[in-house]
Amino acid sequence: MNLHIPTLIGRKRDGEHLPANEIRALIDGYVSGEVPDYQMSAFAMAVFFKGMNAEETAALTRSMLESGDVFEHPPGHPLVVDKHSTGGIGDKVSLPLAPLVACTGAWVPMVSGRGLGITGGTLDKLESIPGFNVSVSLEAAQRQLSEIGVVMMGQTERFCPADKKLYSLRDVSGTVPSIPLITASIMSKKLAESLDKLVLDVKFGSGAFMKTEKDARTLADAMIAVGKEMNVEVHALLNPMSEPLGRTVGNALEVIESLECLDGGGPADLRELVLDLAEKISPVSRKELEALLDDGSARRKFDEIVQAHGGDPADLPNLAKIHQAPMIRELPAPDTGTIVAVDAGLIGQASLQLGAGRSRATDAVNPAVGFDQILKCGEHVHQGKPLCRIHADNLVDFEMASALLDQAFKIQP
Ligand code: URA
Repeated sequence: MNLHIPTLIGRKRDGEHLPANEIRALIDGYVSGEVPDYQMSAFAMAVFFKGMNAEETAALTRSMLESGDVFEHPPGHPLVVDKHSTGGIGDKVSLPLAPLVACTGAWVPMVSGRGLGITGGTLDKLESIPGFNVSVSLEAAQRQLSEIGVVMMGQTERFCPADKKLYSLRDVSGTVPSIPLITASIMSKKLAESLDKLVLDVKFGSGAFMKTEKDARTLADAMIAVGKEMNVEVHALLNPMSEPLGRTVGNALEVIESLECLDGGGPADLRELVLDLAEKISPVSRKELEALLDDGSARRKFDEIVQAHGGDPADLPNLAKIHQAPMIRELPAPDTGTIVAVDAGLIGQASLQLGAGRSRATDAVNPAVGFDQILKCGEHVHQGKPLCRIHADNLVDFEMASALLDQAFKIQP
């Protein structure tokens, strides 16, 4: 198709709806290098201001997912499911959820990202397990699915290359927070897993990408609409992210808390959210899911995952020692009273200061640092008793983090 790109950009800038074949030609041209970054970033900015309707968003999603390889499941395969979270502070749900759902007989081909922004992503957390390899080829992933029913991996070079290229461009051109671009980016990667069912955990609040419930609803509706166009059953749950999920923030610390959940324990809010999401995509009841957490099945499946990805399950009980930060100190409460707010956004920023997250895609994350024993809203604290523990590399980092945390906890007498 001979497309005049400046005219196409101008038409989107003026608010026209573009046909699917033109969107396809633009994405194909961008992936092949014929359409340069400067034209694509102008197009992304036009979309940011003028939006896209449901048909355009679906066409963009389809073009992006077909820019690379997709999972091909054999005839007669079990139900194939996954979940996606728009991300939040202390959100470690994928770690217990993937093995739990795999225990029900469904297949979970979970392709995840690294964290960019405040905290580490699922891959960063998994990599705090010694030897855990997330760089799996599509062929190996498909083999692993048929063997243990679950794979937890990163995006390969051949998986949604259009998204890989476009997301990096959006990151440096001020065009990340656009609903159609976010929708196409997330859904292209998830639908390239060739799913039957997908559950979305769309967060809103100070520690989330979407700051208001209204924006989260708009994003959820856009993603559900794309699912409908593509014949995939998509469920969306909207969840507040005003306080961190669970009681830990930081890569190895979050794996340790995920193991508690997989052993039938852990914080109540984490367990409830894992069950809420798993229930939407599992072929079994919530009661059966609870039993799979409580009887050790989900934990055994996680050990199988670790083994399949090159790690040693025997290391899991020793993670706290393996990744012990040089400085672990309590943050004392300034007053006695009830915790009425724990600002997830500030806790996220503090974890970034400690090195748990990354500012640039190429930054390394520190697996050992972060926070644990974080008190939750509604809990009572005595003056001088800990609000949480800070795991830091050195005193300077510790002091920067504790200054932010002092503002994050609000205590009412
Ligand atoms: N996560 C993604 O994968 N893509 C976006 O555009 C935003 C969040």
